Amino acid sequence: MDQIKIFAPATVANLSCGFDVLGCCLDAVGDEMLVKKNDLKEVRIVKITGQDLPMQADQNVAGVAVKALLNTLGSKQGYDIEITKKIKPGSGIGSSAASSAGAVFAVNKILGEPFNARELITFAMQGELLASGNAHADNVAPALLGGFSLVRSYLPLEVLSLPVPSELRLVVLHPMIEIKTRDSRSIIKQNVSLKSAINQWGNLGAFVSALYTEDYELLGRSLQDEIVEPVRSILIPYFQELKKIVSAKGALGFGISGSGPSVFALCKGEEIALKVKKAMHAFYSDKNIDFELHLSGINKQGIKVL
Ligand code: HSE
Repeated sequence: MDQIKIFAPATVANLSCGFDVLGCCLDAVGDEMLVKKNDLKEVRIVKITGQDLPMQADQNVAGVAVKALLNTLGSKQGYDIEITKKIKPGSGIGSSAASSAGAVFAVNKILGEPFNARELITFAMQGELLASGNAHADNVAPALLGGFSLVRSYLPLEVLSLPVPSELRLVVLHPMIEIKTRDSRSIIKQNVSLKSAINQWGNLGAFVSALYTEDYELLGRSLQDEIVEPVRSILIPYFQELKKIVSAKGALGFGISGSGPSVFALCKGEEIALKVKKAMHAFYSDKNIDFELHLSGINKQGIKVL
C-alpha cells in the first residue's frame, strides 16, 4: 500500500467531570486526510485545504506526530500529507487531535500496522504537545479508539475504553471565537481544594458507572465541574444562559467541550437532541456571533479508512 485516505473525527474532551482524562468521539464532523509515500525520505505537509495552518512538518501537529512514529521505528521512509480541515482550529472539538491521530493512523496502515491503535496514542500526543504545550490524550485517544476513553494514568500511559449507551446524543454549539487550548490552559488554577477534588472524583466515578449501567439520568447529574468550568466559562458568550435553556428542553447535562469555546449538551435520544439543537439555534441567532451547531451520535469506530 502506497497511499491511504482517511476520515479523522472530532472529539469532545473533559466532559465536565474528567479534565484531561475523559473524552468521546463524534460522528457528525471530521477532517479528511490523504497520506502517500514519497521517495524523498522526508515527511512533508503538501496541501492543507480549509484552514491556514503551518506547512512545515516540524510546525504542524500531523508532521510532528508522524515523525515521532517513524523515529520509534527507525524508519527513513518519507510521506506526503494532505489535510482537508473541516474541524476549525481553536474550536474545542479536537482539531489538532484529528490531524495528529489521523496522520499516525494513516502512516501506520501504510506500514502494515506495526502498532495497534492504543500504541498510536503516544505518537499522536506529540501533536497535542506542539499545539497546546501539553501532551494530553483525552482527544487523541477517543479519535483513535472511538467511543469513550478514560486515561487512568499518563505515566505510564494507560487508556481504557468505556461502553457507549446507544441513545446518547451530543449537541455541540461552536461560537466562532477562537480560544487557543494553550491560552485556556494558562488561566486554570494549579491547585485544587480537597472539597472540590472529592466532588470531582465522585462525579467521574459516577459517570463511568452510568455508562456501564446506561443510567442516563446519572450521566446527566455527573456532568459537573467546579474546578475548570467556573474559570473557562467566562470566556464563552452566554454560557450560563445556554445551560438553563438546554436543561429546560430536556438535556441531561451541559458543559464546555475541551478547552472551549464549543459547548455540548448531552441528550437521550434524537428527539430531545433536536429540540435542544433548535433551542440553541434560536437563542444564539440574534447574538451577533457566528456559530455552528452539530447534532452527533457517539462514533464507536474512531478514525476510519475512506
Ligand atoms: N483536556 C484538554 C483541556 C482538552 O481541557 O485543555 C483540550 O481539548
